[in-house]
Amino acid sequence: MPEQSEGQTTARAVVYEMTGGPERLQVVTRPRPEPAPGEVRVRVHRSGVNPTDWKSRRGTGEPSKVDPPQVPNHDGSGVVDAVGEGVAAGWVGIRVWMWESAYLRPDGTAQEYSVIPVRHVASLPDSASFDLGASLGVPFVTAHRCLTVTEEGPRRLGPGTLDGRVVLVQGGAGAVGNAAIQLARWSDATVIATVSSPEKAQLAAAAGADHVIDYRQQDVVSEVRRISSRGVDTIVEVSAANASIDAQVIARLGSVAVYADSGGSELTLPVRSLMVPNARWQFVLLYTAPAEAKAFAVEDVSAAVLDGAVGVGNDAGLPLHHFPLEQAAEAHRAVEDSVVGKVLIDVAD
Ligand SMILES: NC(=O)c1ccc[n+]([C@@H]2O[C@H](COP(=O)([O-])OP(=O)(O)OC[C@H]3O[C@@H](n4cnc5c(N)ncnc54)[C@H](OP(=O)(O)O)[C@@H]3O)[C@@H](O)[C@H]2O)c1
Repeated sequence: MPEQSEGQTTARAVVYEMTGGPERLQVVTRPRPEPAPGEVRVRVHRSGVNPTDWKSRRGTGEPSKVDPPQVPNHDGSGVVDAVGEGVAAGWVGIRVWMWESAYLRPDGTAQEYSVIPVRHVASLPDSASFDLGASLGVPFVTAHRCLTVTEEGPRRLGPGTLDGRVVLVQGGAGAVGNAAIQLARWSDATVIATVSSPEKAQLAAAAGADHVIDYRQQDVVSEVRRISSRGVDTIVEVSAANASIDAQVIARLGSVAVYADSGGSELTLPVRSLMVPNARWQFVLLYTAPAEAKAFAVEDVSAAVLDGAVGVGNDAGLPLHHFPLEQAAEAHRAVEDSVVGKVLIDVAD
């Protein structure tokens, strides 16, 4: 990795000019970007890869409204090294995590220096690794939204906020599932997670799930009812294929937050049996979620990090996979192939 020097005017970036496979990702050297008014420039240390990043690169995700070249990846972490007009100079030198970097913008985090509106960075305490910082944005903000759409609240997460509540996380070994388990446990919920194998059961338990159900081996409805006879208050749902299960375990005034269409893109629901508990189905897409909900999520996730309540790596149920910047294509391929855990691109030490 080349050393940065005073007076540096160029920087390396991963870009794609056209949508397509991972081979579209190229490492180029280009002028180092300058922060515009309202922006900071971040010396990126880690770039986190999520499914949305490869979907955008393939042209099957959110439509890109910017002209190429596009630098991929929303999530990242690093240190602010310059600020644009209107941004407090005190940001310089602050360690940060970054979220939604590349939404309708050309500057994702897979580059040495990324410019980003100051609203899209949050400070990262010295106690938190850059690995953790680059793993927060998409999974944790999405998980926060899913955990805060239930009729009787809460709208904010933190110790005690989910006390007495039962949360079901479908797909507890996934990145969003892992974040949902960690945030729900931090908020004192009873957490039930479903997984598809003993190995994934270990990951969900490491993340903090109180109960783990192998949906390939066990009957999810009867297991959930055995754990909580009145059902569950909040379901964090990765798959429309689970609608029938969700409908059978949702408690009165409960909510099902659907954030993905894995395993099916249409829902069929039993109307009358869902009228009885006044159940709510809430669809979730990070990009178009209310700005206030995302601001709350960023604050609460930062508080959880400061508390030391969330983590990454095997101990937190989220194995890490590191790739150098030159292998950004391999990093994207790993996520596209559904590797278990978190894929990170190491941009600086
Ligand atoms: N709406 C949003 O804003 C938003 C935000 C983030 C992610 N997403 C989307 O959500 C999906 C997951 O993202 P991710 O980063 O968490 O991916 P991931 O790390 O690959 O996790 C996906 C998990 O879902 C599990 N799963 C799949 N089908 C399941 C089912 N029927 N029941 C229970 N678990 C099931 C998988 O495990 P098994 O297959 O082994 O069960 C896997 O553990 C992606 O499609 C992504 O694009 C949407």
